[in-house]
Amino acid sequence: MIFVSLIPILGVAAAQNVDYSQFVNPFIGSEGAIPGYAFGGGDIFVGGAVPFGMVKLGLDTYEEPLNQSALNGGWTPQGKVTGISLMHESGTGGGPKYGFPAQMPLTTIDSPVNVLDNLTYWQKRVGDDVASVGYFKTEFESGVTVELSASRHAGLHQYTYPSSSEKHVLVDFSHYLPHPMRSWDSQFYTGGEIEIHPNSSIYTGYTSVANGWCLGPPVTVFVCGEFDSPPDQAKAFKGKNTFPVGRHFRTFGNATTPNATFTGTNARSGPMGDRVGALFSWNNTDETSTVKSRVGISFISVDKACAYKNQELSWSIEESTAAARDEWNRDVFSKIRVDVSERANKTRLALLYSSLYFMHLIPSERVGENPLWESDEPYWDDFYTMWDLFRNQVSLWHLIQPSYYESMIRSLIDMFRHEGWVPDGRSGNYNGLVQGGSNADNVFADAYVKGLRGAINWTEGYAAVKKNGEVLPFFDQNPVDPQGSLKEGRSALDDWIPLGYVSADRNSRAVSKTVEYSLNDFALAQIAAGVEPGDREKYLQRSAGWQLSWDPEATARNFSGFVMPRYANGTFHKNYNITNCGDCNWSDESYEGTAFEYSFVIPHDVERMIELMGGTAHFERRLDYVFQPNTSGVDLGVNGLGITTINNIANEPDFQTPYLYNYLNKQWKSVERSRQLATDFYFNSSNGIPGNSDAGALNCWLIWQMLGMYPIVTTPVYLLESPWFDDINITVNYNHTLRIRAEGLDDGDGKQGYYVQNVSINGQAWNKNWFEHEDAGGIMTNGGEILFTLGTEQTVWETGDVPPSPGHRVVDVGQSL
Ligand SMILES: *[C@@H]1O[C@H](CO)[C@@H](O)[C@H](O)[C@H]1NC(C)=O
Ligand SMILES: *[C@@H]1O[C@H](CO)[C@@H](O)[C@H](O)[C@H]1NC(C)=O
Ligand SMILES: *[C@@H]1O[C@H](CO)[C@@H](O)[C@H](O)[C@H]1NC(C)=O
Ligand SMILES: *[C@@H]1O[C@H](CO)[C@@H](O)[C@H](O)[C@H]1NC(C)=O
Ligand SMILES: *[C@@H]1O[C@H](CO)[C@@H](O)[C@H](O)[C@H]1NC(C)=O
Ligand SMILES: *[C@@H]1O[C@H](CO)[C@@H](O)[C@H](O)[C@H]1NC(C)=O
Ligand SMILES: *[C@@H]1O[C@H](CO)[C@@H](O)[C@H](O)[C@H]1NC(C)=O
Ligand SMILES: *[C@@H]1O[C@H](CO)[C@@H](O)[C@H](O)[C@H]1NC(C)=O
Ligand SMILES: *[C@@H]1O[C@H](CO)[C@@H](O)[C@H](O)[C@H]1NC(C)=O
Ligand SMILES: *[C@@H]1O[C@H](CO)[C@@H](O)[C@H](O)[C@H]1NC(C)=O
Ligand SMILES: *[C@@H]1O[C@H](CO)[C@@H](O)[C@H](O)[C@H]1NC(C)=O
Ligand SMILES: *[C@@H]1O[C@H](CO)[C@@H](O)[C@H](O)[C@H]1NC(C)=O
Repeated sequence: MIFVSLIPILGVAAAQNVDYSQFVNPFIGSEGAIPGYAFGGGDIFVGGAVPFGMVKLGLDTYEEPLNQSALNGGWTPQGKVTGISLMHESGTGGGPKYGFPAQMPLTTIDSPVNVLDNLTYWQKRVGDDVASVGYFKTEFESGVTVELSASRHAGLHQYTYPSSSEKHVLVDFSHYLPHPMRSWDSQFYTGGEIEIHPNSSIYTGYTSVANGWCLGPPVTVFVCGEFDSPPDQAKAFKGKNTFPVGRHFRTFGNATTPNATFTGTNARSGPMGDRVGALFSWNNTDETSTVKSRVGISFISVDKACAYKNQELSWSIEESTAAARDEWNRDVFSKIRVDVSERANKTRLALLYSSLYFMHLIPSERVGENPLWESDEPYWDDFYTMWDLFRNQVSLWHLIQPSYYESMIRSLIDMFRHEGWVPDGRSGNYNGLVQGGSNADNVFADAYVKGLRGAINWTEGYAAVKKNGEVLPFFDQNPVDPQGSLKEGRSALDDWIPLGYVSADRNSRAVSKTVEYSLNDFALAQIAAGVEPGDREKYLQRSAGWQLSWDPEATARNFSGFVMPRYANGTFHKNYNITNCGDCNWSDESYEGTAFEYSFVIPHDVERMIELMGGTAHFERRLDYVFQPNTSGVDLGVNGLGITTINNIANEPDFQTPYLYNYLNKQWKSVERSRQLATDFYFNSSNGIPGNSDAGALNCWLIWQMLGMYPIVTTPVYLLESPWFDDINITVNYNHTLRIRAEGLDDGDGKQGYYVQNVSINGQAWNKNWFEHEDAGGIMTNGGEILFTLGTEQTVWETGDVPPSPGHRVVDVGQSL
């Protein structure tokens, strides 16, 4: 893989004219621990897209062996290309979603090529793929060069055929990203319709694909495609639905893949969900070596899809690439400005701007594209998932994307208004899957306490999260959880409300749900404080539920006291393995983290957590221990990218743990730990993030690290750490500048001049290792300057109060409320 900058590096230029996109490596996370395979990597999307674009145009590939492949983002390092499609997720670890509608350039349609059988025309790639912000290029074995770019709702494909080869484009409406390893959450095609317009250069129609990650109903996308030159032949086709997963439509026994029936200028699926598509061909083998296609999509109508195509794209790939790049520079990269001159460390520029790129691919902004209800509110999709986003990504959007972020929250509230629930995950216009708690609660609280208002109706925002805390959701019969709903809400409320904890006999994932529900109820208390003060105390009390699941007698590795699985009758699961959660999946007692790890995940009451771990000395010793090599009891396999510590920085629950030393007023240890993790596991290379990027959550963790801060979600608190640049200007709250300066920073080539010696905020000496959003005259709203003095000495510089524990409550552990 090669990442290129299309324009030369600019010299010293005005900040707004700097092309930060040149530093982005769009392949970071495209490969995992096994070179040449996507498996265990970031699962990222590679292709053309604008920030939060509805269209993400890229390759769909099939990579073998399947046990070390991941098709979620479409692109894999060596996979064969089965199609080029307009919709993708990025970074998601669950089942694939989208990968439609698709085109595929072909140089022959002679037998054995069968347009209904992707194995007969799929393409290996030759040479290295090329990608830069807004642009992608690859070459097929057939000799066809494919170049791609995208606008918000449309994609531009440019196919350059070898001279004297035949030129065909297959439009395959029944193509989607498959999940060959498992069927329960695999997508399947349910039908479509295609029509070729009289002059043959335009096709319109729709395709519907069901299921996928959140087990949603069919997603119907209207399509409007156009070629830059009229084809000499254009024919629609249909064929029997042979997809193994869509068993409802199976119209064959064990027949081989059928041949297509060509149907003239249009094809309709009919009741059995027949596959439909069209084949376009150009006769002239000499002159026209390039075929371009603009394709617009819409969830509302063909007319809208055509309008997007016409309004958003010209026929020039240079123009659409430049437009996408400008938008990324203007709306994303230039929000965080560092020195990009010759003396700048290019690796750090790549890490910073690539991380910003990956945290702005999903969710997808679909304002005006809600097919489900009429509303003046904005609409968004592909929250995949809040569980990943809430821990620090939303807090950065809050600062640098106030407009998009307000729009997202309004759209989430509108979902509650019209569907009854605010999602924890959502994709394909459908809520799911809930991994633990109802974590939109945390997102809303974070926005609320930091003063995000605009056109958000917080009365309704509070009603939405209050419902999560009070109403047991409908049981959705998900095959991986026989006990509770994974669609929305908190499926274990029937334990949580009467018992105060989630029991291990009546519910799956008791440990992690108990920990998450506690923070969720703290989040409710935070919003209630302003919207419904009478509710506050009740939710604060409930937010202490984790203490009821704390078994002071539980012992592991010479440490005592852990959150443990507790049964409804009040006894604990005594021989539960504290360092090994087994598969750590849907049906286990703890989800994607051990009891050892989750015992640290109480951000609203670190004070009580420290007390229960035996006081500050014991707490520090335990914290030190989880960063010792070879302590993990879980084999993370290739997903761990070499992580052998109990703390798994590759996964969200442990994101905040390395920063907990701030709560001991030993900030230098937080700095040391978190830097070490960042330098050990993040690189400017295709395997440069430690696991699935999770919608950009891992990338955003790195950005906070580089800025020298970490937000404590659901509270207005930011921990102070140590920046990686000596001067950073951040545009916060639309048009204010937060400047972060680091005097004395000297940390290149292994040097350790990054320990904090002292800090001042807006000129005031600052003796605490944390600050609040509105401190120092509104530092995060009005801007200002945080000045770090750094050096090589590991200094306890902070003499003020430790960071707050605003949910502090003392409940007798192991008792009932
Ligand atoms: C190829 O097409 C078949 C249907 O004929 C489908 O089941 C399969 O998932 C497709 N493979 C890929 C990699 O898209
Ligand atoms: C995939 O299967 C092959 C053959 O069984 C095996 O050698 C390889 O280790 C497996 N890969 C992973 C990531 O499990
Ligand atoms: C084909 O027809 C459409 C209207 O259906 C028109 O917009 C388009 O310009 C025509 N294209 C060519 C190449 O004639
Ligand atoms: C049909 O195909 C499946 C999968 O290839 C195979 O397991 C099964 O035995 C076949 N059934 C018959 C009746 O041939
Ligand atoms: C499809 O067509 C090919 C060649 O035209 C033929 O060999 C094959 O038997 C046909 N397949 C079916 C299922 O009819
Ligand atoms: C293009 O080729 C097809 C198939 O050979 C032929 O039927 C058609 O007449 C040709 N069209 C033109 C405009 O030459
Ligand atoms: C940050 O802004 C200040 C004030 O405008 C300016 O002097 C400084 O050069 C900027 N630094 C960077 C890295 O952009
Ligand atoms: C907010 O929503 C509530 C409940 O639907 C409604 O009564 C109120 O008028 C709304 N407030 C505004 C400012 O629209
Ligand atoms: C409590 O419940 C657990 C799980 O059902 C059971 O194994 C245990 O025997 C029960 N203990 C008592 C004292 O009832
Ligand atoms: C827990 O799991 C670890 C790692 O798999 C194992 O070494 C240990 O013996 C187990 N402990 C208990 C108490 O079962
Ligand atoms: C800053 O942005 C806000 C929000 O868009 C706007 O109301 C205000 O006028 C802007 N101020 C300046 C000086 O541009
Ligand atoms: C540049 O930054 C990288 C990543 O932090 C670091 O490993 C390297 O030592 C730095 N290089 C210099 C010359 O400072």
